[in-house]
Amino acid sequence: MSHASLPGHPFVHYADNGQLHVENCTVDALAAQYGTPLFVYSKGAMLAALAAYQKGFASRNAQICYAMKANSSLAVLQLFAKAGCGFDIVSGGELARVLAAGGDAAKVIFSGVGKTRTEMREALEAGVGCFNVESEAEIDVLNDVAVSMGRKAPISIRVNPNVDPKTHPYISTGLKGNKFGVAHERTLATYQRAAALPGLQVVGIDCHIGSQITEETPYLDAMDRMLDLVDSIEQAGIPIEHIDFGGGLGINYNGDTPPAADALWAKLLAKLDARGFGQRKLMIEPGRSLVGNAGLCVTEVLYLKPGEQKNFCIVDAAMNDLPRPAMYQAFHAIVPLQTAPAGADNTVYDVVGPVCESGDWIGRDRSLAVQAGERLAVLSAGAYCMSMSSNYNSRPKAAELLVDGGEARLIRQRDTMADQLRGELLL
Ligand code: LLP
Repeated sequence: MSHASLPGHPFVHYADNGQLHVENCTVDALAAQYGTPLFVYSKGAMLAALAAYQKGFASRNAQICYAMKANSSLAVLQLFAKAGCGFDIVSGGELARVLAAGGDAAKVIFSGVGKTRTEMREALEAGVGCFNVESEAEIDVLNDVAVSMGRKAPISIRVNPNVDPKTHPYISTGLKGNKFGVAHERTLATYQRAAALPGLQVVGIDCHIGSQITEETPYLDAMDRMLDLVDSIEQAGIPIEHIDFGGGLGINYNGDTPPAADALWAKLLAKLDARGFGQRKLMIEPGRSLVGNAGLCVTEVLYLKPGEQKNFCIVDAAMNDLPRPAMYQAFHAIVPLQTAPAGADNTVYDVVGPVCESGDWIGRDRSLAVQAGERLAVLSAGAYCMSMSSNYNSRPKAAELLVDGGEARLIRQRDTMADQLRGELLL
């Protein structure tokens, strides 16, 4: 396996000495220095993932808004802001992070079904580029807030195109039964209503059909339905400056074969051109596909616990650090930090964390040659891991490193107990 990049993880490889590397850094050495659980991200992998989109949109009028919920650590935001990205945000907290990282508010789009008046006010004050409005009720509240501030809020309406993204039900968002967006049939009437309100300025239209999408067809279908709507909205005299196609492109977790961002967009742009929308301003909101396979989580094996039905490999990372298996039965590859010597005996384990729940598993039925005290890497941990982590069981949040070539920078200190106790009051 020497020098072989891991499939889907171009910046992770085993070097000739058998040691797992992220770019030019030895993962085991990083874990020895910074402790575990430890998230290690590759700057090169993030920028390469972004470059695929930038290549896809070269010479088009397009804005890439990184869906920061995937990984909202400040240094990651700073990296994407410097690379020219805007941001898709879903809360006042995310807005504050963008501003703290030096992001440009004018390139921010504010999505989400439950924006509060306070969040709307903060976003208007900061000057966000667009509110992606998700319901008819939200239109009235946003109009109220904007009028009370003497402002006009730029809006697009998030349409629920009712297409099946063919992904996990918890992360499908563009089907009729989902809470997101305005129903396709109600879209024109909703635009007419919004256009008549003094506090709103219609600037765009938007959809997002789901996440970890690995096929092209749902995107092509959603685009057709969106363009039909743009036609009818503009015929009603309401100009649409930009079309936002959301995010959702999947990554390779377990042999998944999503299209490359530039290949997918070549097809989508061909459709836009064929339908006469090639010059329109485009927006996209990718999250996972920019960061997911740029990160791994290093964990130490605490105990091996053989059993009659199952063998358990108990590690020091848990569902509070890596919530995706518990929440979505998600698969993350788990690999050793050092290639196993020839003839090593593998055992099949459930890899589990210390949290007191049977749902606290990281991987099931994994064949590993591992001893207590050794370390493992959980792959594809750049997206929806740290950003969804918690202090459950009063466990500290892990530390994070960003690797750039042979240099690793600490971008988040491990939680201290003082961090965890801050803000709590005894009776
Ligand atoms: N735009 C909107 C409005 C979204 O709701 C999302 C994700 C995105 C963009 C970015 O989607 P992406 O490119 O990352 O697929 N925690 C789940 C994923 C939840 C996705 C929520 N919305 C997971 O770990 O699989």
